[in-house]
This record gives sequence, structure tokens and C-alpha cells, in this order.
Amino acid sequence: MPAVSFQNVSKTYASARGELQALKGVSFDIQPGEFFGLLGPNGAGKTTLISVLAGLVRASGGRVLVQGHDVQSDYAAARRALGVVPQELVFDPFFNVREALRFQSGYFGIHHNDDWIDELLQGLGLTDKAGANMRQLSGGMKRRVLVAQALVHKPPVIVLDEPTAGVDVELRQTLWQFISQLNKQGSTVLLTTHYLEEAEALCGRIAMLQLGRVVALEKTSDLLRQASSNVLRFKTDQALPPELAAQARVTGRVVQLPAHNAIEVEQWLARAREAGVVAEDVEIRKADLEDVFIEVMERASGQVQEATP
Ligand SMILES: Nc1ncnc2c1ncn2[C@@H]1O[C@H](COP(=O)(O)OP(=O)(O)O)[C@@H](O)[C@H]1O
Ligand SMILES: [Mg+2]
Repeated sequence: MPAVSFQNVSKTYASARGELQALKGVSFDIQPGEFFGLLGPNGAGKTTLISVLAGLVRASGGRVLVQGHDVQSDYAAARRALGVVPQELVFDPFFNVREALRFQSGYFGIHHNDDWIDELLQGLGLTDKAGANMRQLSGGMKRRVLVAQALVHKPPVIVLDEPTAGVDVELRQTLWQFISQLNKQGSTVLLTTHYLEEAEALCGRIAMLQLGRVVALEKTSDLLRQASSNVLRFKTDQALPPELAAQARVTGRVVQLPAHNAIEVEQWLARAREAGVVAEDVEIRKADLEDVFIEVMERASGQVQEATP
């Protein structure tokens, strides 16, 4: 049985400017023990999909099952199997950290949970903040408490929605160490993140969403393999000729071009030179998940345009 099963999930929001289809028939399964990444640009529908999974938003169509429990008709069992770290920082300002965790345990009917709470505080670097009021904590510390809160009932399925957005490197490392350890012990993890190098390092399989549709769903290693294997990177002050500009990713002075082999690298450099472009700090690196992500998104938006008359 899958840990999570999304079956043709759709969601239409009614907004002032009419209806917005945030999810357009999303289907995929996550198997027990997977570390699964859900990627996509802003507005792709990641948070909506997670909110449907968590029972916070009602789908307009389709079904979502957590360990076989329907999130609508069997809400309590589905909710118990899930630990959800939301994208927004929501907390009760009147509790201290330990009280917040005890309260959350009580919500799940667990009354003697201090051993596990201590482990969570330790693992997330919160031990010396246990007595601190939630209001006094920095954004990064609040984020750690949200993670602890999500895990307080030892859920088999852990869901993290952009947990590292805007947080410091130290928290990212602490968090990933802790979550990876839980994953090794058998927990299933569903992660959305903007940091593609995190997804590449952590996730065994990845789904990419664009405008409410799944546009890629593969093992991370297979995604990386299908990309152009190398990237030529250089800096220049000159404008690129059209044939290079069409294929390049340009960030300020930095130009990046896909290249499958050394011949293609030479060809790009020759064309640049012929056009009077002076390439400085030339480097060749392996394609990473960010390159794949850009390729997939461009290909998918081309297909959407072709399909729309
Ligand atoms: N409560 C809401 N009401 C109306 N539209 C919404 C609501 N929540 C999200 N949306 C819209 O749905 C789309 C998907 O949003 P979201 O799920 O937050 O995407 P992501 O998390 O991938 O950035 C966006 O166009 C967003 O503006
Ligand atoms: Mg989001």
C-alpha cells in the first residue's frame, strides 16, 4: 500500500477575478520509506496539494489516501499518520516551546510524551529554548518548533512545505540531519523546496508541478541523466549573438550554455569569438537539478502553448 496516493486531484479556487484551477488532475503515489520531492515554480500548486493532503483544503475532485485512509471520509486516521510542517509560520504566542509540544501531543491523545519531546528538542537544537516563550523566538527557531510540533506524535509520513525558505545554513543542516535519520528509520518524507541542490541531495524521486499539472515524475538519478550532461559557463560584458542567446541562461554577466561533449563546448566558444564576445573565467561543470528543472519547465510550457489554439 502506498504511503500517500494522489488520485486525479483537482482544485478550483473561486477568486474575485473568477475561478482559478490550482490543480488539474494530479496523480502519483509515494511508497513507504521514500524521500520524495515536489518541485515547481511559485504558484504551481504545491501548497494547495499539501493542504488537500493535510485536510486543510477540500479538493474539487479526485481522492487522496494516506496509508489507505481517505483524507476526507477517514480524516482522523489520515491526519494521525501525517506530520505536516506548514509553509506559513503559525504558532500560539502564549505557550513556551515545551508547552506547545505538550499541547500538540494532547491533541493526538498522547499524555506522557516528554521522552520523545526531549529527543525532538535535542535533535532540532532547541534544548536551551524549551522554556522560551514562542513570541521571543527568531523566525528560524520558530521554524524548528513547527518541525518538532509536526513530529510530536511520531507520524509515519512527514510532509515539509518549504521548510528552509529564508532560514540560515545551520538550521538547514540540523533539520536535514534529523529528517534524514527519521527517513533511514523508515519514515516517508514529502518535501517541497526552492533549493534544488537540497532536493538533488535528499530526494530519491521527484515530481515537478507546473500550473497544477505534473510535468515530470522520475527518480532523481534518471532526471539528472536525461539532462544535457555538461554546462559551459563564462562571464562576458558583450551581448550574445542570437543563436547563443536562444540557448543560454544569462544571469548578469554570467552565461551558461548546455553542452553534451567537448566538441559542443568548442563550437559555443568559437561562435562567441566570431561574434566578438570575449569569454572570461571559462568553466565546464556537470548539469545539476536546476538545469533539468529549467529544461523541463521550458519544454512543458512550450507544450501548453502548442495545445492552446
Ligand atoms: N486560498 C486561495 N484562494 C485563491 N487562490 C489561491 C488560494 N491559495 C492559492 N491560490 C492560488 O492557487 C495557485 C497555486 O498556489 P499554491 O498552491 O500556493 O502554489 P505553490 O505552493 O506551488 O507556490 C496560485 O495561483 C495561487 O495564487
Ligand atoms: Mg507554496
